[in-house]
Amino acid sequence: MITIRLAQETDLASIQKVIETAFSDEENKVIMNLAADLSKETTSPSIRSLVAEVDNHVIGYVSCSPIFLKPGSGFSGYILAPLAVSPEHQKQGVGSNLINSGIDLLTKEDADALLVYGDPSYCERFGFKEEVGRSFVPPYPLQYPVGWTGMMLNDTALPEEPIKFECVTALSKPDLW
Ligand SMILES: CC(C)(COP(=O)(O)OP(=O)(O)OC[C@H]1O[C@@H](n2cnc3c(N)ncnc32)[C@H](O)[C@@H]1OP(=O)(O)O)[C@@H](O)C(=O)NCCC(=O)NCCS
Repeated sequence: MITIRLAQETDLASIQKVIETAFSDEENKVIMNLAADLSKETTSPSIRSLVAEVDNHVIGYVSCSPIFLKPGSGFSGYILAPLAVSPEHQKQGVGSNLINSGIDLLTKEDADALLVYGDPSYCERFGFKEEVGRSFVPPYPLQYPVGWTGMMLNDTALPEEPIKFECVTALSKPDLW
């Protein structure tokens, strides 16, 4: 039985273990550091991280951090990243469960947009679209533009012109983009 709950600071070592095994050796250190930075950072609105557990054992992780748009833009949004599931628990719906739980949580909090930088072939099944990604312009050039997608969480129309945003300090590193 899988449980999804909000991550706590004491989960960091277990989260990093999941990341270490889920990502390649080339990528995992950077993502482990990112998870540590996200767990320490205080923002308003706050960063929401979720873990998936089986038998009190953390097997999956996702983080959603707020984006900061110019005052008066009229939009609020979050970035979903990173996402990781332990290899032995992959392809059992855990990643989908984490993403859908993040979507539910942020929808209840009246966020307008959820953005993601990941594999579009995985993300599109949840309704993330390139068109929404194009409307919210990240602070750094993207190495992999096709991976930048998003979804609106309510019936707010897309901005008429693409709008730039700033992100949390943990993600404010050009190499992550
Ligand atoms: C991506 C990831 C989180 C998916 O977790 P998961 O628990 O296996 O996901 P689900 O069980 O909900 O969905 C699995 C499905 O997604 C597919 N899938 C997984 N990664 C995919 C990718 N990069 N591109 C396309 N499809 C992918 C699987 O083939 C499977 O397809 P199926 O439903 O047709 O069998 C997991 O594979 C992982 O941790 N990967 C390494 C880290 C990573 O790439 N994270 C995302 C970028 S931040």
